[in-house]
Amino acid sequence: MTGQTVSWWLFFLILAALGGLNGFQEDEFLDGQLTLVVEDALEGGPNPTFSPRSTIHVRSVKSGNALVTHMRQWTPELHDKLRALAENDDLYRIRVYHKGSEEKGYVSTFTKACQIYESALSETVSMMVDSAGMSVVGVGLIPPVAVCRGQPPEIIPVQHNTTVIIRSPTPAPVPDTATYIEKLEAMKNEKAEGKDNRSFLAKYWMYIVPVVLIMVVFGGGQEGGR
Ligand SMILES: *[C@@H]1O[C@H](CO)[C@@H](O)[C@H](O)[C@H]1NC(C)=O
Repeated sequence: MTGQTVSWWLFFLILAALGGLNGFQEDEFLDGQLTLVVEDALEGGPNPTFSPRSTIHVRSVKSGNALVTHMRQWTPELHDKLRALAENDDLYRIRVYHKGSEEKGYVSTFTKACQIYESALSETVSMMVDSAGMSVVGVGLIPPVAVCRGQPPEIIPVQHNTTVIIRSPTPAPVPDTATYIEKLEAMKNEKAEGKDNRSFLAKYWMYIVPVVLIMVVFGGGQEGGR
């Protein structure tokens, strides 16, 4: 390989690395990740005991990407407990905490036990997470069965069937008409002129720096060789 081919290869390698770095920052680093632990109560009564049920690993608050893992087997004993709750017209309660921030406490919700029972443990859990992904601020639990018919599920479930929705609050808009109109004007102008206000260097530094580096390294080497 000639020196020139090598420098082109290096150039593309550095470009690829910089591109990867940018992608990483946008998708992973600047976006919230957190692990939530879901506990539920199958005891009933006013002060039931909760036990760990599932973990929800939120990979990205922005995209709502979350992975659910269930921590316990759904045994016939648990199924009997849930049936008893449903038959007593009691509540199925869950509470959620942010793993690693236990001191912040729980958020919790409940539904009628018969809804979860008749849904055969299918449910949609909606998590309200602050936009930085630093904490969980609310939880919702929606079983597909909205009105109980008083009949057992057609299938005995083997595990919770959980669909997770991640929501993060957007700050309420503050009316600021003057700035808004200014922005609109600026955007219109930009569109009309098709131009980016940033300087050439600000836009293309990531391409220029490696080229300059390569020129310094290989240019110096070649001159020395002559
Ligand atoms: C799991 O839940 C989804 C959405 O609610 C539903 O379409 C699917 O049939 C359920 N699967 C089982 C095995 O219950």
